[in-house]
Amino acid sequence: MLKPSQTAYVPFVSVENMMRLVLHVGIEKMLTELAAEIEADFARWPLFDKTPRVASHSDIGVIELMPTSDGETYGFKYVNGHPSNTKRGLQTVTAFGLLADVATGYPLMLSEMTILTALRTAATSAMAAKWLAPKGSTTMAMIGNGAQAEFQALAFKAVCGITEVRLYDIDPAATAKCARNLQGLGLNVVSCKTSEEAMLGAQIVTTCTADKQYATILTDNMIGSGVHINAVGGDCPGKTELHRDILLRSGIFVEYPPQTRIEGEIQQLDADHPVTELWEVITGAAEGRKDERQITLFDSVGFAIEDFSALRYVHSRLKESGLFVDLDMIADPDDPRDLFGMILRAQSA
Ligand SMILES: NC(=O)c1ccc[n+]([C@@H]2O[C@H](COP(=O)([O-])OP(=O)(O)OC[C@H]3O[C@@H](n4cnc5c(N)ncnc54)[C@H](O)[C@@H]3O)[C@@H](O)[C@H]2O)c1
Repeated sequence: MLKPSQTAYVPFVSVENMMRLVLHVGIEKMLTELAAEIEADFARWPLFDKTPRVASHSDIGVIELMPTSDGETYGFKYVNGHPSNTKRGLQTVTAFGLLADVATGYPLMLSEMTILTALRTAATSAMAAKWLAPKGSTTMAMIGNGAQAEFQALAFKAVCGITEVRLYDIDPAATAKCARNLQGLGLNVVSCKTSEEAMLGAQIVTTCTADKQYATILTDNMIGSGVHINAVGGDCPGKTELHRDILLRSGIFVEYPPQTRIEGEIQQLDADHPVTELWEVITGAAEGRKDERQITLFDSVGFAIEDFSALRYVHSRLKESGLFVDLDMIADPDDPRDLFGMILRAQSA
């Protein structure tokens, strides 16, 4: 067989190399740097191609494609969401993604994104809370202690200065896992038996549960004035976490309204219910938290620009870290119009 040309190769970041990158940079530093990248891209929001993600639903899950471009670079992510997977020993969410050069259409990098999604989701949540949560917040309730939970806790520590995280999950084994993993990482970790207990003294409440139904993880009476809610788990049609009455009392902040109206907590509200786009808070075009009594809600569903920022972050560190392998991914005949001839020559080589 002929040896591929240099153009044929696309850097590939495997799961192993992503884990090495996280350890090389340091998890909190990486979460902080990702939050800054995502914030910088939100600040130039109008520049991006935007579309609600393309979702293929089944009774038990969803497979989604999430594309965007800033005119120079294009990115997409493939991601699934299958809450019942954990019962089969599989994860709820897995992902991979690609960056490409808009000028040629040639891929720049292919990457695992299961770990990167957990990192970018947590970084986005903490970045939003930096703008919306009450000043001086120290305590976060963490409802749902699955795959995303430790990333969320550490992002809020690194970006927002949280010192205590109060854990609750319907499955005590998930809480025990999360508490064990967070041990010695500089947070005061309190394992709780009910979500009410987890909320005690919390200025920030993160819901990160997985259930393909209209769930009620938080009821109206659980949310006092001034609290910031980071609602991560409601991210599909028919899959929400908050009682509707909470939404009616909250200032609601979203990523991309055409997607969030389909997928977020606000699918429970009228289609014209007022919401504020987070990017406008960042650019100063819209007001963030009004006062210390307001309940703020970041109705997170995950938007393509966050994945684009995360992929670009990883891409920018490839040379320095060397944490990739070359994949022979792009057919590259000597004569660009002689693709067929390349196969014939391979036969005789
Ligand atoms: N908004 C985003 O950008 C974004 C990104 C990634 C994942 N998600 C969503 O976040 C959620 C969590 O993802 P994950 O990978 O951690 O899932 P996971 O399955 O690993 O963990 C979910 C946890 O929620 C717990 N849970 C379920 N119902 C509960 C309830 N009523 N009360 C308390 N705990 C409950 C489960 O026991 C489990 O431990 C999923 O719904 C996923 O789709 C959102």
